[in-house]
Amino acid sequence: MREKIEEIKRRAQEKIASITNLQELQDIKVKYLGKKGELTSILKGLGGLSQEERPKIGSMVNQVRDDLEQALENAENIIKQKMLEQRLEKERIDVTMPSHNIEIGSIHPITQIIEEVKEVFLGMGYQVVDGPEIEKTYYVFDQLNTPLDHPARDLQDTFYITEDVILRTQTSSVQIRIMENQKPPIKMICPGAVYRSDTPDATHSPIFHQIEGLVVDKNITMTNLKGTLEMFAKKCLGENTKIRFRPHHFPYTEPSAEADVSCFVCGGKGCRVCKGEGWIELLGCGMVHPNVLRNCGIDPEEYSGFAFGFGVERIAMAKFGIDDLRLLYENDIRFLKQF
Ligand code: DAH
Repeated sequence: MREKIEEIKRRAQEKIASITNLQELQDIKVKYLGKKGELTSILKGLGGLSQEERPKIGSMVNQVRDDLEQALENAENIIKQKMLEQRLEKERIDVTMPSHNIEIGSIHPITQIIEEVKEVFLGMGYQVVDGPEIEKTYYVFDQLNTPLDHPARDLQDTFYITEDVILRTQTSSVQIRIMENQKPPIKMICPGAVYRSDTPDATHSPIFHQIEGLVVDKNITMTNLKGTLEMFAKKCLGENTKIRFRPHHFPYTEPSAEADVSCFVCGGKGCRVCKGEGWIELLGCGMVHPNVLRNCGIDPEEYSGFAFGFGVERIAMAKFGIDDLRLLYENDIRFLKQF
């Protein structure tokens, strides 16, 4: 009996030593240690042995089983390690290989303008803020002193989601969000997308971008507004740029103005970009209407402010000589990589 057990052990160890894969390992496990395996069948036959022999043979079998289990475990670890090494070898990346041609993108002209403007206003101590594009009419119109019968609120002009939730038509809504949450002094700009129910053509798009500006503090005057805009125009459009105000109407500013800049393409002589005028219409602006301040809990007797808002596309088009607005949204790389 002892010899038989020794012989099983020797045979099993030889096999284990020559294992090359996990399947072979599994087969050996079953053959020697499994329920119907050779060692198990010896254990089953212990009943036929003498009282004296039974425990000795039993413990011998157990010892052999332990040894074989240990040997199998070692073999398994070695095989797994080998498999891992093979995989790493196969999947090795040669970092010295020449790469495929990767096309590096360029910054979109609209983003370029926004970044430039941000830079200028950050330099003047403004904070750059963000606001929701899906917005309550309360913020886009009501709080901005824009009555229910104002044409901007018409279905023809505005994308409605519900009766009182819209895609914002102007970034001016962010003025309210800021004034409701911050105490003066306030100096902020807010770049972002706005939406209007327009049919696309060379100068219209249902989505475009605006940059809003707002300053509220004690003793803010129209002079501050004009000085600020002039500084901005010179920094963004060229040192020789001049600025002029024309009277206008916006419900949320009083007085209101539209500001033109001297054409930064021809310098004011008249060209295709300024349509021979020498001036380019740049933005809307004015002194924040007392009602708007009051709506936001700011006392117009104590504080005053100015606000302005302009379209980013218009500047990008003039600056880069783009004559069709739609090109900015087509994502044609041949077009975009020129800028
Ligand atoms: N929100 C105006 C527009 O979309 C632009 C504008 C005009 C913004 C006057 C202002 C402002 O802040 O004071 O055309």
